[in-house]
Amino acid sequence: MKAVLALDEGTTSARAILFDKESNVLGIGQFEFPQYYPKPGWVEHNPEEIWEAQVKAIKVAIEKAKLSPNDIVAIGITNQRETTIIWDKNGKPVYNAIVWQCRRTAEMIEEIKREYGDVIREKTGLVPDAYFSASKIKWLLDNVPGLREKAERGEVYFGTVDTFLIYRLTGEHVTDYSNASRTMLFNIRKLEWDEDLLEIFDIPLDILPEVRNSSEIYGYTKILGREIPVSGDAGDQQAALFGQAGFETGIVKATYGTGNFILVNTGKTVRYSKNLLTTIAWGINGKITYALEGSIFVTGAAVQWLRDGIKIIKHVAETEELARKLESNEGVYFVPAFVGLGAPYWDQFARGLIIGITRGTGREHLARATLEAIAYLTRDVIEEMEKLVGIKELRVDGGATANDFLMQFQADILNRRVVRPVVKETTALGAAYLAGLAVDYWESLDEIRALWKAERVFEPEMDEETRERLYKGWKEAVRRAMEWAKI
Ligand code: G3P
Repeated sequence: MKAVLALDEGTTSARAILFDKESNVLGIGQFEFPQYYPKPGWVEHNPEEIWEAQVKAIKVAIEKAKLSPNDIVAIGITNQRETTIIWDKNGKPVYNAIVWQCRRTAEMIEEIKREYGDVIREKTGLVPDAYFSASKIKWLLDNVPGLREKAERGEVYFGTVDTFLIYRLTGEHVTDYSNASRTMLFNIRKLEWDEDLLEIFDIPLDILPEVRNSSEIYGYTKILGREIPVSGDAGDQQAALFGQAGFETGIVKATYGTGNFILVNTGKTVRYSKNLLTTIAWGINGKITYALEGSIFVTGAAVQWLRDGIKIIKHVAETEELARKLESNEGVYFVPAFVGLGAPYWDQFARGLIIGITRGTGREHLARATLEAIAYLTRDVIEEMEKLVGIKELRVDGGATANDFLMQFQADILNRRVVRPVVKETTALGAAYLAGLAVDYWESLDEIRALWKAERVFEPEMDEETRERLYKGWKEAVRRAMEWAKI
């Protein structure tokens, strides 16, 4: 049997998944790697540990699928985006990877934003923030001894994690349009690295990868003992939209992970929203599909906090049972602004807040408030999207979508159908599709579209009065979480 191998290199673990032509999962390998927090607000990974985890995951996936390397027709890559690595010609990293969550460059960005905020917006579609790669690259060049000189002599390479993996696998220094669009250095209309931005961030052009289609052969890897094409690359959120067959304008996908990432396909049109990011979904045969994105930094991480932080649950799945013990939230709201608020508020300084507690408040209230918060935050983003694009359907994926209470509440609070697909591994599937399309394993988007199937549809059931009363309470809680920062 022939299969496509997808490498899904995420923030906490590296996964490898094999898919057959009907998009069935044949085998999965997954290994976590350590997170480093050298200072408050700083987050790093060791690229060697990412690589080791990825290689182990590949081996396990192949074993589990009972396949041999001869059966693998192509490899697709999808990755935690924005995370920044610089390495030398031997592929050896010069410093740890600076992770997308890392806030070490927040002040640098505040300064740059004052002068160049509008220029950055217009060229890259992004809201200037420490989240993206540009300021992280500048930090490395300014802080790793001798690195700037090496960069100027063309002796080192920058890349996001996709680029690092492709370099290790094939020796090519490339990325795709979707990942390039998250660096805050790429002009999303002209489709080139932007000279003005490179000057603002003082970054030499030579260290940047060549930007290619999301689906084409970048090179061949011999890591499994024979030559296999590496032929798909997309940032994980864009890959998930692809894996959800979100090929038409107006299809929205929401991935419920550590954070929630919500993307709506806007087709060939670059749409700007004050509070959302404009990004490249993918480029195929030189044709670009754009998207609007709402990145919510903390959602599943808030459920983990209930488990590992305040320890009121043992397993994340318990939240469903706890939430169902109550008829309503009884006025308790939780705004999980642990690291400020992302879309649509973009407030780096907001902090978490729990409000409305009484003597009768228990862990069921906190569990319910946490799940509700995920749904309210998602509505905040989708409301912004609706101002610009007609929305067809919300397709969901990610761990928390197994929580039926959350999915029903999401449909209720949005007053929209929420559709959960049969194949939940949409991120890896997207990367597999991109890689498979390039080698004609799948022939067309139509063929892929026909493979996408709903497992369950959640229809809204809540009355209008309740919905709007609940949402009004949420908005007020968010306002207070943001006010707190100003005290
Ligand atoms: O932009 C960051 C995003 O790509 C991270 O995704 O799934 O690794 O948390 P994930």
